[in-house]
Amino acid sequence: MNNIKACIFDLDGVIVDTAVYHYKAWKRLANSLGFDFTEHQNEQLKGVSRVRSLELILGWGGVTKTAEEQEVLATQKNTWYMEMVNQMKPDEILPGAKEFVEVCRKAGIKIALGSASKNSMTILNKIGITNLFDAVIDGNKVSKAKPDPEVFLEGAKALSVAPEECVVFEDAIAGVEAAKAGGMKVVGIGQPGVLDADLVISGLDKMTLDKLFKL
Ligand code: G6P
Ligand code: MG
Repeated sequence: MNNIKACIFDLDGVIVDTAVYHYKAWKRLANSLGFDFTEHQNEQLKGVSRVRSLELILGWGGVTKTAEEQEVLATQKNTWYMEMVNQMKPDEILPGAKEFVEVCRKAGIKIALGSASKNSMTILNKIGITNLFDAVIDGNKVSKAKPDPEVFLEGAKALSVAPEECVVFEDAIAGVEAAKAGGMKVVGIGQPGVLDADLVISGLDKMTLDKLFKL
């Protein structure tokens, strides 16, 4: 038995599969600029802020844009992304996610969201699980992007727990690094070969309290 007191969940790719919507919107933007990008490159965008993602994509396409043009492009991507988000229903919560959060809550474990997305609250409201979170730290509340641990450290602070008492759930390479940099345990959601986490599972439907306390 360890002293886990809180779980901090990333949103995109952990609670909901908005990673697919981000990909579709970025791909549409890249294609409109005359180039494409690969699934492998897309992997590097997970957990990365909107502004930084655009910089990376423009770099891959060999395209240079002014700061003003970049703002227009980032807004366009977000408009396309939100068109998909606004169609979301509660049945889009990833398998086992809501159930695992509820099991944690019943066990007295505090719950926070730790996401780079500025659209986090809209998404939580759309899928109807906002009330399951004791704290929500999103892209509007932090200034340093993952792999900086700020978002998770702010989550721990909001829950009044120490970093070493927290377990982070992440699907992004940058997010796993951020959790480790914050001195937290981390469960990777995805493939073991990609994520260097304390435990890697394919989804929250594979997570149990037993596994949590064995970390
Ligand atoms: C998450 C996603 C990223 C996304 C970032 C910002 O971390 O994994 O793909 O770029 O949030 O999201 P936003 O909704 O603010 O554009
Ligand atoms: Mg994610």
